[in-house]
Amino acid sequence: MDRGKFITLEGIDGAGKSTHLEWLTRLIQRQGREVVITREPGGTPLGERIRALVLSEPMQPEVEALLMFAARAEHVQTVIKPALARGTWVLSDRFADASFAYQGGGRGVAETKLTDLERWVHDDLQPDLTLLFDVPVEVSRHRLMQTGNTLDRFEREKADFFARVREAYLRRAEQFPDRIKVIDSSQPITDLQKKLQQIFLDYCLG
Ligand code: TYD
Repeated sequence: MDRGKFITLEGIDGAGKSTHLEWLTRLIQRQGREVVITREPGGTPLGERIRALVLSEPMQPEVEALLMFAARAEHVQTVIKPALARGTWVLSDRFADASFAYQGGGRGVAETKLTDLERWVHDDLQPDLTLLFDVPVEVSRHRLMQTGNTLDRFEREKADFFARVREAYLRRAEQFPDRIKVIDSSQPITDLQKKLQQIFLDYCLG
């Protein structure tokens, strides 16, 4: 049986990736594929408890990185790899690129430490395709404020934090151009969906 494809969605808070998750799910299902929708931090009972902790509790940047990768280890071993092995596709709202962007770019954790953790936790697993939803920080801030939801510990960070996170994401995209596709998330939604569909068909069915 063919291994499933592993697709991840990334972007700074307020970049709009959650809006596109549902649309992308239907697109995959229309191709007759079974797909598991999951998220990080989270995706497992233990991971969801770690998520609640990291989104609320102040902690040292390196502790934050370790907890993200601890949640990821559980997620990779109990959800992602088993699904891919049985031929199911996995669509994850964030994965390791978020650690390089937020803990690396945003908090200043050394990239070499994150690379070590990555090697330990998922040496043999990288997404097949990563969709990076990119918007200027001012646009994302405006969107976050508009939702009226209570902001979590990350969302309460200042604009310069998100500028560093965005920059780190864009650097990752330059480093891994075959895997990470940058999507301008400030364009009209119909144009964005057209672009998304084109990328999806090129990379996953070609
Ligand atoms: P997010 O997808 O933004 O959740 P929601 O849309 O429900 O607010 O993810 C929660 C936060 O976790 C987000 O601010 C980014 C952060 N995060 C990291 O800092 N490092 C990581 O490795 C991951 C996976 C997420």
